[in-house]
Amino acid sequence: MAERKLRRRVARYEVKRLMREKRSEEMESLEEVFDRSTLMIVYRMLNRGYIKNIHGVVRSGKESRIYWGSGKRKNPIALKIYLTTSAEFRQGRVMYIQGDPRFKRTKMDTRSLVNLWALKEFRNLQQAKQAGVRVPAPIFVEGNVLLMEFIGRNGIPAPLLRETPLDHPGRVYDKIAEAVRRLYQKGRLVHGDLSEYNIMMVDLDPVIFDFAQAVLPEHPMARMFLERDLEHLNGYFSKIGVTVPSIERLTSWVVGEDGNQS
Ligand SMILES: Nc1ncnc2c1ncn2[C@@H]1O[C@H](COP(=O)(O)OP(=O)(O)O)[C@@H](O)[C@H]1O
Ligand SMILES: [Mg+2]
Repeated sequence: MAERKLRRRVARYEVKRLMREKRSEEMESLEEVFDRSTLMIVYRMLNRGYIKNIHGVVRSGKESRIYWGSGKRKNPIALKIYLTTSAEFRQGRVMYIQGDPRFKRTKMDTRSLVNLWALKEFRNLQQAKQAGVRVPAPIFVEGNVLLMEFIGRNGIPAPLLRETPLDHPGRVYDKIAEAVRRLYQKGRLVHGDLSEYNIMMVDLDPVIFDFAQAVLPEHPMARMFLERDLEHLNGYFSKIGVTVPSIERLTSWVVGEDGNQS
């Protein structure tokens, strides 16, 4: 018992020391934006070595902020920090959590919801990666802070699909459709917000990201989400001149109803 107490005291001391030592410009900007509990999570991650350094902000959205930094390994990491203050956060989110058998007992206050959202993104990324779908590899999650592989170079994220001129758009379409199918059949996931904004291009390979809202096929709205994802995909690629199959055919191919399980 005494030992545990002592260890806790040492940890607290360590966090304080880190707070003094790591007070870089990025840390200061972090401290302006995030509440105490978010900062404690980041400091704990620093303390345990999950984060070595935070280099800068990559993107600042209404509901989350992405930083890049370094972690335990050589490759850069991305920190996705969900804002716990966003008033609209709850809107339209509860339905992606209810109906997901992985997250049954839930408190539904905003803070719990934000934390669950981060955890859900982490689990979904794990599930997708295990299925062999190219996504940012998840590293660690605690509270509203998610660490994952940084996709890009020198702090600049890889271009989004919508920013990438394609020499062979048909091939890229096929790769994305394959990924959606693999995600469904092997990963048991429907992305739910698939679009040219949530796909980055690394050379000629699509990397799908932004997974918090993804649901299992058992979710009562999974089919609707899947069809909507595929409509976005078809919409974007037919606009740039690719001949695409009908939504019905594409959907049954993705779910394997045509007898072609992958
Ligand atoms: N793992 C990552 N590596 C590099 N850039 C990323 C990563 N995740 C997100 N980004 C960048 O941050 C932006 C917002 O990320 P996203 O996960 O889509 O957040 P939101 O939920 O706010 O849409 C992306 O468009 C991309 O440019
Ligand atoms: Mg997004």
